[in-house]
Amino acid sequence: MNFDRLAPHYDWLETFTAGEKLQQVRTAWLQELRGCRRILSVGEGHGRFAEACAKRFPGAQLTCVEASPRMLARAQQRIGAAAPRIQWQCADVLAWTPPREKYDAIVTCFFLDCFPPDQLAAVIAKLAACAAPDAVWLVSDFAVPPQGLAHWRARAVHALMYGFFGMTVGLPARRLTPPDESLCAQAFRLEARRESEWGLLRSDWWQREPT
Ligand SMILES: C[S@@+](CC[C@H](N)C(=O)[O-])C[C@H]1O[C@@H](n2cnc3c(N)ncnc32)[C@H](O)[C@@H]1O
Repeated sequence: MNFDRLAPHYDWLETFTAGEKLQQVRTAWLQELRGCRRILSVGEGHGRFAEACAKRFPGAQLTCVEASPRMLARAQQRIGAAAPRIQWQCADVLAWTPPREKYDAIVTCFFLDCFPPDQLAAVIAKLAACAAPDAVWLVSDFAVPPQGLAHWRARAVHALMYGFFGMTVGLPARRLTPPDESLCAQAFRLEARRESEWGLLRSDWWQREPT
């Protein structure tokens, strides 16, 4: 998977297909990061979450891990010198060496849906290992409602999306794997969920239970 090719087009494609809807999903639970000192955003992409987060919590230390150099450059260009505390790391998260100090929050925006089941479980386990025992995890993603017209509508949208990303960036996933089971296996509990667009879009706030 390589998002470099898509990087110059990502902003206008988002605006054209979804307007501000994806950004509303990314930031739906932003306030739950209050009090978090160290925040990790993985697959940050073009920097829209990082921009909102740095603006809202200028004192927090935000680390962004992103595999595509061109997406990372786009994010840095977007935010510029406005947020000098952001640490940018160009790396595949599975090969990335995390620091020893744990993160108070993990953020994944439209990232977990990129992976097939075996890789998804490995990504979630890796990120959970970097998270504090009481960490927050904000997940923004697409979803498929269980039944009815909303289900078939989402299936059609997903077929188009996975076809498009498969062709353009070599996305390894062919369909969505819900991350819920893997998050629960890492002691995260779903605190709250907001759905929009007939259940096609989801903003989740997960909270880790100290054991
Ligand atoms: C669908 S885009 C989402 C971008 C952005 N977070 C958003 O909200 O639109 C997925 C992003 O994850 C990055 N990515 C994919 N696999 C990765 C990996 N293994 N490690 C780090 N980043 C990865 C891609 O380069 C891409 O920028």
